[in-house]
Amino acid sequence: KIDLRRRPYLKELDFTPAEFRHLLELSASIKTARREGSEEQRLRGKNIAVIFEKTSTRTRCAFEVAAHQQGAHVTYLDPAGSQLGHKESVKDTARVLGRYYDGIEYRGSDQRFVEELARHAGVPVWNGLTDQWHPTQSLADVLTMWEHTDKPLDQVSFAYLGDARNNVGNSLLITAAMLGMDVRMVGPRALRNAPDVVEEARRAAAVSGARITLTEDVAQGVAGVDFLYTDVWLSMGEPPELWDERIALLKPYQVTVQTLEATGNPAVKFMHCLPAFHSSDTTVGAKIAARTGMTALEVTDEVFESSHSIVFDQAENRLHTIKAVLVATLGD
Ligand code: CP
Ligand code: NVA
Repeated sequence: KIDLRRRPYLKELDFTPAEFRHLLELSASIKTARREGSEEQRLRGKNIAVIFEKTSTRTRCAFEVAAHQQGAHVTYLDPAGSQLGHKESVKDTARVLGRYYDGIEYRGSDQRFVEELARHAGVPVWNGLTDQWHPTQSLADVLTMWEHTDKPLDQVSFAYLGDARNNVGNSLLITAAMLGMDVRMVGPRALRNAPDVVEEARRAAAVSGARITLTEDVAQGVAGVDFLYTDVWLSMGEPPELWDERIALLKPYQVTVQTLEATGNPAVKFMHCLPAFHSSDTTVGAKIAARTGMTALEVTDEVFESSHSIVFDQAENRLHTIKAVLVATLGD
């Protein structure tokens, strides 16, 4: 019997594959209950703080709506709205908030901050993204894959193209390794997952039977996959000076109609955690277009808007999966 009550949710490796699968199953059942109008409120009377030191649309809104739908109250703190970071340490903040709140979400830069928060808060802490990991994203991503395939997860294959070293690249590699999937990290050597992450993934794969491929070769990497996944080429907190270098390194890994064709799978699905640079409609997109002439970076608009794209199903699943994490760790 799996019991995750009072457990923090900081990174995938803190969980056994069975515990992670339990969260997936709970997410699916909570999603069904919501749709059928039979959702039970299991967080009534709880108070939750959500701290965002980096910007967010999906994660913040998913946490807030999930908590409200489950009967909990939420306080949102942005970097300007608290003493954290300027006048007060993570450790002191943790010891204060832990006295008011039943659980705390945190999005920031270094993974060490969220771990420090968890150590001192005395209540469950949930990682809403750090530079190293994005564990609520990977849970939503695997749920989405599960919904879009008839295969058991250990027969599912996906290729992640682009900056593998970022939070999403790390979380997906580890999750796939834990669940026994066929995962290909496709991108330049310079942006490969750090050696310690690859080693952890190989260790998990030795137990689960996962197949791990790290390659610079797009054709080899994407052959036969069920899903193509990509993320931004420059993550939050990385200096804009890196843009030119990143674009030069990652241009061959842009997901285009040719990439879809190279999979040889006419039913291949396209995934992205969002936000995505697929057009110059945004302020940042317009700036990049003006400088480089590229109106899309990691994925073309054609692929993003195509029938292969399941990015909004993924975004929806952030709500159901975050709710499952809240219920599993904080529910009575
Ligand atoms: N995918 C994701 O985490 O989106 P936000 O940055 O909008 O929360
Ligand atoms: N790698 C991206 C993910 C955003 C959800 C970033 O950290 O900005």
